[in-house]
Amino acid sequence: MCGIVGMIGQGQTKAMILKGLETLEYRGYDSAGIALHTGRAVDVYREKGRIADLKKHIPTDADAHLGIGHTRWATHGRPSQRNSHPHQSSNGRLTLVHNGVIENEKQLRQEYLHDSIFASDTDTEVIVQLLAQLVEKHGDLPTAIIALQQLLHGSYALAIIDREQPDVLYAVKNKSPLLIGKGEEANYLGSDALAMIDKTKNFYELNDGEYAILTAEAVEIFDREGKKIIRETFEAQIDANDLAKGPFKHYMMKEMNEQPAVIRRIIQAYINDQNETLIDQQILTTLRNAKRIFILAAGTSYHAGLVGKQYIETMAQIPTEVHLASEFVYNMPFIPEGSCFIFISQSGETADSRAALVAIRELGFEALTITNVPGSTLSREANYTLLLHAGPEIAVASTKAYTAQLTVLALTAAAIRNYDLDLKFELARVATAMDHICEMHEQFEMLAQNYFSHGQHAFYIGRHLDYFVALEAALKLKEISYIHTEGFAAGELKHGTIALIEEGTPVVGLIAQAKVANHTRSNLQEVAARGAHTATIVCESLAQAGDTVIIDDVHELFTPLVMVLPVQFLAYYAAYIRDCDIDKPRNLAKSVTVE
Ligand code: G6P
Repeated sequence: MCGIVGMIGQGQTKAMILKGLETLEYRGYDSAGIALHTGRAVDVYREKGRIADLKKHIPTDADAHLGIGHTRWATHGRPSQRNSHPHQSSNGRLTLVHNGVIENEKQLRQEYLHDSIFASDTDTEVIVQLLAQLVEKHGDLPTAIIALQQLLHGSYALAIIDREQPDVLYAVKNKSPLLIGKGEEANYLGSDALAMIDKTKNFYELNDGEYAILTAEAVEIFDREGKKIIRETFEAQIDANDLAKGPFKHYMMKEMNEQPAVIRRIIQAYINDQNETLIDQQILTTLRNAKRIFILAAGTSYHAGLVGKQYIETMAQIPTEVHLASEFVYNMPFIPEGSCFIFISQSGETADSRAALVAIRELGFEALTITNVPGSTLSREANYTLLLHAGPEIAVASTKAYTAQLTVLALTAAAIRNYDLDLKFELARVATAMDHICEMHEQFEMLAQNYFSHGQHAFYIGRHLDYFVALEAALKLKEISYIHTEGFAAGELKHGTIALIEEGTPVVGLIAQAKVANHTRSNLQEVAARGAHTATIVCESLAQAGDTVIIDDVHELFTPLVMVLPVQFLAYYAAYIRDCDIDKPRNLAKSVTVE
């Protein structure tokens, strides 16, 4: 959600920024823009739509050694050229890009900017106009930035160019992600490391309230009061090759196919040759002593949390609750003393989860973050982190991160009280079963053609763990194919929602839990009798004649890890057949950095 890239250095700035923005496309956006400082002036190019559209409007010979770029995911004001970033102050001196939301923008307009003429509907323009006013008042940009931060409420990552300083790039961060990349004869900034990884692997973190001054030679970081901070760089463990699609048409297809390898990588990272789990003892002690565990997450990670609760309660016998992060802060349940929190987040940047983390840390509770991104905000701000080792996930629809989350949750739950299960063996079985499912892709393409090529509604149903997979299956299908899909507890369908079943409505039953298999089959009969076009995805040992997809058996607790693959493939092919933008579905952002 919104991407920022900036560079100060020895030319080739336009190419670097556009490439960086393309790398950030996965975060989701609806317009894009770039500003280049030519030495005398700052030229701004902005377009609604894709970066490819923007490129057409930038003269081929345009370049600079200082520039900033942005992909916008609209919050204030519709997607349009006039609302696209960069925005400039009316006097033309300052140009900036912004990721985040300014909560008091109306008040700031009324109090300080009533005479200003605005060229857009964005909260971002409030920042740039206000900053220009503060520069006039204080005389220099750093002092103005300090004053600005005292006035702004909300989240903001900013990259700022001053027309009068062609050799300086400014960065400011509060709550929204922003990293500084340290290069050889150039320095960079970006919303995440991926945007700069082909230029540098060395990064400076910026904490909330801090700002940085970048020149081609140096990076200086300051706190909210303007006091200089000495900070070391860290090295990002990302391989630029991870960003290539390889032989696949889409990142989503690549990432679905990576899942067996990811499970094997997690086994290697977390289980040693003696079959012991390599999870920090402090994490395990904290969880073991917890009176209650609260799992907080959003989207697909929330669905992983629902399964994680079952793992923790079954394997560690600790009462566990799962909450949507976006609801938790505003509707806080009773939290008994001695509770502990687990945050699940692929990106580690989701603003709703972060707001909840800040709130529970203020209440004095300890938190573990399970994330794919080392050094991400949720990782830095929690007491402990467990990494997913899934490699960068670029497609907006989360696939390999979900199965990695389930795997790490299972390993953690089992390690809390040494649950008696050969995890290495069981997870290796999972990886093999996944291999077999990946080989079945032609079957999934045919099924998607048969069930999802037209029609606007669909259902996934299941019971117990299958129900949680049904929720994820429905999310996958709706987010990339735009078919309105519901995931339902199979037994609940008849209590109202069955009224929606019409001739031909696709209903897919997920059947991997032996004790409820027959019940789910009965529920499928009920909808079939009302005209539904039913299908089944079943584990081998529960299969019957006429089942649609049969997958290998794995340990019953780990069936969600394999059941989810067929539904991911079905969603992919449904979107493919319907000619949808699979990796970048409409309206969606990969990393949702506003509440
Ligand atoms: C967005 C993405 C989803 C993701 C959710 C939570 O909505 O489109 O795919 O599941 O955010 O993201 P997180 O990074 O916290 O797991």
